[in-house]
Amino acid sequence: MFGIALALVAAAVAAPPAAAQAFPAKPITLVMPYAPGGPGDTITRVFAGAMQRHLGQQVVVDNTAGASGSIGTAKVARAAPDGYTLLMIHVSHATNPAMFKGLPYHPVDDFEPIGSATSGPMLIVARNDFPARDLSEFVAYVRANGPKVSLAHAGVGSASHLCGLMMMSTLKVRLNEIPYKGTGPALNDLMGGQVDLLCDQTSGTVPSVKGGKIKAYAAAGKVRLPQLPGLPAIAEAGVQEFDINISFGLYAPKGTPRPVLEQLTAALQKAVADPEVRNRLEGMGVSAVSAEQATPAALRAHLQREIDVLGGLLVKAGVKAN
Ligand code: MLT
Repeated sequence: MFGIALALVAAAVAAPPAAAQAFPAKPITLVMPYAPGGPGDTITRVFAGAMQRHLGQQVVVDNTAGASGSIGTAKVARAAPDGYTLLMIHVSHATNPAMFKGLPYHPVDDFEPIGSATSGPMLIVARNDFPARDLSEFVAYVRANGPKVSLAHAGVGSASHLCGLMMMSTLKVRLNEIPYKGTGPALNDLMGGQVDLLCDQTSGTVPSVKGGKIKAYAAAGKVRLPQLPGLPAIAEAGVQEFDINISFGLYAPKGTPRPVLEQLTAALQKAVADPEVRNRLEGMGVSAVSAEQATPAALRAHLQREIDVLGGLLVKAGVKAN
């Protein structure tokens, strides 16, 4: 009798909690809060494929776009905290609270960080017939024509908007801002000549630049991109304060069981170490983060820094969505 009791105790101690044992027992929905075809969507689909392999379960990307990513983010905040609805998002998770009054979620209190996934630079690109032959002519033309030049972005507080704000403040010019539900649709208009400029992440622009569908004037920072070595960095035009890098991270709703979160972090860490993931991202000018950064603590710290720095910067710049 005593032996059976001991065996039962031993089995209970050894077996993982029921939540972790069964997880994942059905497909996982990975919400990307920007439109299909943009840099966020491209990065999300790379990770959806890798995590599907490492979790042994389907990971389905759900593009719920609009309001600078806050509609898709709200969807995840109110989803069941069971690990089957996740969010892939970047800087707009930090900026949206400063942009939108009455946001139906809090970026820290309503989410569990799983880990950071990528980091990557941005490019200043234009429609192919934009009237400037190189970076110095571009700077001169934009400074001379300001409000007559249209600048696409993915909504206030988005990465493309922040990059556009940095361009306007460093070049001391106002441009005519055209918001989209993501820079995928913006890129289509840029290729069609309906909009003049876009400052976007490399995962959304390097293929189109290489394909000759749009033209690039500069990397939006201090260093050139290995993928486009002939393209100058904006710093080479003497614009030193213009430097931006965008990092994506993975979140679950608050209350998701710890064992499930640990399984998701483990799958993310395998994904960022996956050679196929690293090579695909590298081709777009994006870096998968290290295993140390693909952790809840690292993502929590990164998010807090962005909230403290960028939220304040946008409020100071008088940027508001509503
Ligand atoms: C942005 O912040 O500009 C978004 O990442 C664009 C997108 O992914 O569509």
